[in-house]
Amino acid sequence: VTDGKINVELGSRSYPVYTGSRTAASFARTCREHSVPENIVLITDHNVSRYYLKPLLKALIKEKFLPLTIEIPAGEMQKSLARADAIYTLMLKKRIPRDAAVIALGGGVIGDLAGFVAATYQRGIKLIQVPTTLLAQVDSSIGGKVGINHPLGKNMIGAFHQPLFVWADTSYLKTLPKREIICGIGEVVKYGIIRSEKLFGFLESNLERIIHLDEDTISFTQLCCAGIKAEIVSQDEKESGVRIILNCGHTVGHGLEAAGRYRMLKHGEAVLLGLAAESHISMEMGLIDRESHGRILSLICRIPMQKRPSGLKMPTILNAIGRDKKHLSKKLRFVLPAKIGDVKIVDNVKPGSITTAVKKVLD
Ligand SMILES: NC(=O)c1ccc[n+]([C@@H]2O[C@H](COP(=O)([O-])OP(=O)(O)OC[C@H]3O[C@@H](n4cnc5c(N)ncnc54)[C@H](O)[C@@H]3O)[C@@H](O)[C@H]2O)c1
Ligand SMILES: [Zn+2]
Repeated sequence: VTDGKINVELGSRSYPVYTGSRTAASFARTCREHSVPENIVLITDHNVSRYYLKPLLKALIKEKFLPLTIEIPAGEMQKSLARADAIYTLMLKKRIPRDAAVIALGGGVIGDLAGFVAATYQRGIKLIQVPTTLLAQVDSSIGGKVGINHPLGKNMIGAFHQPLFVWADTSYLKTLPKREIICGIGEVVKYGIIRSEKLFGFLESNLERIIHLDEDTISFTQLCCAGIKAEIVSQDEKESGVRIILNCGHTVGHGLEAAGRYRMLKHGEAVLLGLAAESHISMEMGLIDRESHGRILSLICRIPMQKRPSGLKMPTILNAIGRDKKHLSKKLRFVLPAKIGDVKIVDNVKPGSITTAVKKVLD
């Protein structure tokens, strides 16, 4: 199943997600097919540019595009207003017109930051997402959420800005550190739990092949996940309804991530622990059957996480869970697994259940 294509249906803003193993030359041709303007601002980070910038530039120039490359350091710290401002300055100095496109070549950090720049530069210019991490390919590059962090909160400043297309080429994954693969698998497991017993079963049988980036296995996984995300986003672009189910595992996950000050755990690792904890909560509330709960726990247990959180204090974690941005003024809301492939949204989880569940996964 190499070379897949999924459509995100959003009326006049619909767009394809190209999956599977592809080449720089076919990317440049696809830009032509989508009538991408000739002025291109290619934003990437040093880790990614090292491997992929030259061939991509060469292919774009061959197709007569005029790319301006902006390379920044890697890391979550770059998702800042200061960095966005520095990019605006460069673009204005180079007289990048309104009729231009940003290409975001990198992981979720580049996708969110470059996407935010595209959403705001001269009130919005075109955007192409070229995700290079598993997490970005199955999740962050699809759906149009772009943004930056504020000192008072992660992802607090942002917009919805859908791309012209998403180029999720699996060949980028070959250079990805193992820890980042595991992070991507966090979101993959989430998709199985919320929407697809078939994907979940596939993961149970093929987990090791995914971790080792077996080509067919990874392409199939990516196609499944992109399909689920596309379907959910098509139904609810701006998260006023069903899109919330994508937050399964994330209420506890965000709390763990924040409690470790975003340095101890990466997002995908926190999501894996969050999924396990939320399954425990669901079990305690009688919302999930024992067998499904057991399957969720044993799949997550098999995933070789490289960093286990240590030294986190329960009050810090509970506090961080309570401060999750999705609940600024609302009740604390959980998207709990109900069986494999289905969830229940509840906002009456007792603090005691959260504590017990978090303890179980941190032991
Ligand atoms: N917009 C959304 O809907 C959404 C959804 C989920 C997460 N996010 C955001 O995504 C970000 C996390 O994204 P991420 O996990 O991709 O992290 P990341 O962008 O930091 O990438 C992880 C690391 O891998 C490196 N890298 C990327 N591609 C590589 C490649 N092919 N080979 C070698 N190294 C490579 C990067 O330089 C970085 O060091 C967070 O900021 C999160 O808030 C956004
Ligand atoms: Zn996530």
